Amino acid sequence: MEKKIKALQDKIAEAQLGGGQKRIDAQHAKGKLTARERLHFLLDENSFEEIGMMVTHRSNDFGMQDEKYLGDGVVTGYGKINGRLVYVYSQDFTVFGGSLSETHAEKICRIMDLAMKNGAPVIGLNDSGGARIQEGVVSLGGYADIFYKNTLASGVVPQISAVMGPCAGGAVYSPAITDFILMVEHTSYMFVTGPNVVKTVTHEEVTSEELGGAVTHATKSGVTHFASANEIECLQTIRAMLSYMPQNCEEEAPLMKYESVNEKRPQLNAIIPENPNQPYDIREVILNVIDNDSFLEVHKLFAENIVVGFARIAGRSIGIIANQPAVLAGVLDIDASTKSARFVRFCDAFNIPLLVFEDVPGFLPGTDQEWNGIITNGAKLLYAFCEATVPRVTVITRKAYGGAYDVMNSKHIGADMNYAWPTAEIAVMGPKGAAEIIFKNEIAKSKNPVDKLKEKEAEYQETFANPYRAAERGFVDEVIAPEDTRSKLIAAFEMLKNKADKLPRKKHGNIPL
Ligand code: HXC
Repeated sequence: MEKKIKALQDKIAEAQLGGGQKRIDAQHAKGKLTARERLHFLLDENSFEEIGMMVTHRSNDFGMQDEKYLGDGVVTGYGKINGRLVYVYSQDFTVFGGSLSETHAEKICRIMDLAMKNGAPVIGLNDSGGARIQEGVVSLGGYADIFYKNTLASGVVPQISAVMGPCAGGAVYSPAITDFILMVEHTSYMFVTGPNVVKTVTHEEVTSEELGGAVTHATKSGVTHFASANEIECLQTIRAMLSYMPQNCEEEAPLMKYESVNEKRPQLNAIIPENPNQPYDIREVILNVIDNDSFLEVHKLFAENIVVGFARIAGRSIGIIANQPAVLAGVLDIDASTKSARFVRFCDAFNIPLLVFEDVPGFLPGTDQEWNGIITNGAKLLYAFCEATVPRVTVITRKAYGGAYDVMNSKHIGADMNYAWPTAEIAVMGPKGAAEIIFKNEIAKSKNPVDKLKEKEAEYQETFANPYRAAERGFVDEVIAPEDTRSKLIAAFEMLKNKADKLPRKKHGNIPL
């Protein structure tokens, strides 16, 4: 027996060494952790249980029968984060560059099957040279199996992908289907075709980092939701994210302990500038309304004219979508619409109530926006809000103009409660534009057109650029002093906690993609 136990211990030690010490050293030299070290920092201490440690590949071509590593380049299993079950896979770059073989793919699929059956999130730590070149089509099939399971799991359990090394070619599509992507600056990249192919086809000279590094995808493409300075920060962000989410679509997010104190926030009374065209940072509003230190901003560096993220209010997890007047006056454009639509859909899929702060002058005009499809893309956000059945509350802090008024979680499209600050301006368009159109003739005939325009602008402002017309109709439930916002929202989300709403029976809707 002792001999057998010793043999087992040797096997475990062999598996834990991955592709060997030399390759582990090379991994460290690049500033990267190994697959197992990453799991150590991701999961609660001593909570990891490995599955499939002894799996090896089945390939015999190109001398592969003589080169086998236990685990075959991916460490899979389950563990806990803040005491809650998660399923994980972590690709091991020290074994054939973390490349995906038939068996490597099977191990990932097994984890995903277990996650689906047992209703717990899946976290994938990606660090791979892509399809195992020696295996050919079985490796491609393995990728397709994963994509298929990613899609089936979408909306059932949260799926999070961290890219911590190469992720190229078709391999990018697994993270892309999952709910959130995190990347590490300088050591990770994602692209469909790499710099060499780009140079051949388009004659552009570009580095891997420029083409598909963390900052590129966080700012330009929006592919990644987080760009972390290092791997530890990336893993800590995953832990933080999960604290806002339920385990699966049938559950609610955990409710944190909260003791009610004085909920008045007088600081909020001083945020909106006197001049309605002057910007302010909507994060100041958010931070004064939510529980202390509870804001986890998502997609921070992309489409900064809208702010989205997780937060808590009286211990309850919420998703926030807020126009940002400090960037492009908070206008809605293509990127802002797609960014926020995806976040709304995630929150709705996982029973996370939505809070919207609205200060939006409208959609961004211009050929660039029209030709690139602001119609289709703006419709994504509209559609996402319309179909969301979670509790939905809006606070109009200032401008709510035009179609953007409708889109930003108005009561007409299913919001449960709509509050407005006294500074709210709710109208078809801004006073100047409105006066120029409806008083065009009067202004033209006037002896002093400039003064006439000002007079008519003021008249329109007085009549419509306030919250009271909307409140008379019940489109706004209550006009509130900014300092009372937090207490009103705590009460509203508590009132809505048992909301049960259903969409009409259908196979699935057809969101304008
Ligand atoms: C088998 C691979 C491999 C792969 C790397 N290795 N990629 N083995 N299949 N795809 C092995 C290398 O032979 C090497 O083995 C070890 O991993 C480390 O690789 P290096 O090249 O030394 O590392 P580095 O310099 O850091 O470069 C990493 C890399 C490069 C940029 C990822 O290895 C590379 O370009 N690999 C090929 C990428 C690729 O074209 N993959 C297929 C994409 S198509 P030794 O024994 O020397 O340590 C694809 C289709 C998916 O993935 C389709 C889904 C729909």
